Amino acid sequence: MFENISKDKIYKNLFNGKWIDAKNKNVIEIYSPSNDTLIGKLQALSKEEVDEVFKNANIAQKTWAETPVNERAKILHKAADLLEENADELSKILSAEISKDLDSSLSEVIRTADFIRFTADEGMHLEGETIGSDNFPGFKKNKVSLVTRVPLGVVLAISPFNYPVNLSASKIAPALIGGNSVVLKPPTNGAISALHLAEIFNAAGLPAGVLNTVTGKGSEIGDYLVTHKLVNFINFTGSTEVGKHIAKISEMVPMLMELGGKDAAIVLPDADLEEAASNIVSGAYGYSGQRCTAVKRVLVLDEVADKLTNLIAEKVNKLKVGKPEDGGKITPLINNKSADYVQELIDDAINKGAKLIAGNKREKNLVYPTLFDHVTTDMRLAWEEPFGPVLPIIRVKNIDEAIKISNESEYGLQASIFTKNMDDAFYIAGKLEVGTVQINNKPERGPDHFPFQGVKSSGIGSQGIRYSIEAMTRLKAVVLNLAK
Ligand code: NAP
Ligand code: G3H
Repeated sequence: MFENISKDKIYKNLFNGKWIDAKNKNVIEIYSPSNDTLIGKLQALSKEEVDEVFKNANIAQKTWAETPVNERAKILHKAADLLEENADELSKILSAEISKDLDSSLSEVIRTADFIRFTADEGMHLEGETIGSDNFPGFKKNKVSLVTRVPLGVVLAISPFNYPVNLSASKIAPALIGGNSVVLKPPTNGAISALHLAEIFNAAGLPAGVLNTVTGKGSEIGDYLVTHKLVNFINFTGSTEVGKHIAKISEMVPMLMELGGKDAAIVLPDADLEEAASNIVSGAYGYSGQRCTAVKRVLVLDEVADKLTNLIAEKVNKLKVGKPEDGGKITPLINNKSADYVQELIDDAINKGAKLIAGNKREKNLVYPTLFDHVTTDMRLAWEEPFGPVLPIIRVKNIDEAIKISNESEYGLQASIFTKNMDDAFYIAGKLEVGTVQINNKPERGPDHFPFQGVKSSGIGSQGIRYSIEAMTRLKAVVLNLAK
């Protein structure tokens, strides 16, 4: 079903219901991170082309907003079905494009179909309310406020490389069910998969112009997109650096931002250490650590630190390293620059005396799973987000020291606490400055109808199916004033 998107592997953009060639001939070559082969070319749209995209999205939105929600929901259901039917093909494209292992690529696509379906159903149950006037002092019963939810207009959706299908759909579907049109700016690495997702929505019967795509490098076209006068909402997932930049330059445009993290796993002496170690390893090293919710530091109480470190090390040593096509779970990072950055953090930790337990081996952008014990707070690894397969263990004397170090981070996405004592768990959870605390589980976004938000430098606003729909709609009140 994807034959319209690519012509000689120069991927087109979806504009007004059709896949079109850009007028300018600027292209960006996309290479597979795992084997350096050219897998396609993207068009770099010009500012004039971007203007056309927004004008078109703005017009299409007016009709879409009038389309009954149940009809919007039917189209989303159809999109979810098509996504599932094409899951094998799309997950192979995804795996080749961002070097994600094949199981995780397939599960990203299936999870996305579930997300779209749930969004369609949730949208059918978003109801307004009526508020009487007489509960407020000095008012009689003669006024009624009829409160409904209305769309915002054109949503600019900007997604990151690590979940180009899921984190595009998690913006598109809630925006659409709320009656908005969407302009999708996919990540450059990940765009091919995201364009396939756009075709799924198009083939499901979305009216022309309700979803358009813009490819091009964020560093070149990004500022123009986020400051465009026809953007009514920015839904961004990506790095804190880019997120802060967007927040600075955009003018009074509401936004939802999911940014970086430095999630801590706090392990208490009474925890099931075997269970904690399994969670920590899958949390820290899944997709080679390229998840915002990856476990990015362990804060363990001294008395169980040796035992926990041994259990983690055993599991790290069993992780299969290699290309996704060879069944690798620790796969090459998205590019060499990312691997260089991870190596910098590793070198800094070694130079400052951390104890290397596993790893510190590299083949180009393939970084072997690396584990450090005795990491201290003067090391960069204690604070910076590697976005790669390296995990620092920091030993602490007591619960309050763990809380202190966790909260000293500039980030506040999630944290995990491993313990059997719910009094301790709730004491710590109450003090942690994060969006979500997991008790006896690794940090994770799902299930996708749970609220998901970062505080401090980890984000603005809440996503999660209902919360995302609410963020991309607004309340509108019509007040009925009766004579009596
Ligand atoms: P990124 O470099 O910030 O890029 C994210 C998106 O922003 C890409 O589509 C990128 O386009 C675009 N972009 C770049 N500069 C822009 C600008 N000036 N204006 C508008 N858009 C611009 O992040 P990434 O490397 O893809 O993802 C890794 C980061 O995202 C990590 O820090 C991770 O923690 C975070 N993340 C957070 C969450 C969460 O839910 N909290 C989820 C996933 C990832 P190009 O690709 O063309 O540069
Ligand atoms: O990378 C950031 C994602 O929002 C994390 O999602 O916890 O399902 O991997 P995940």
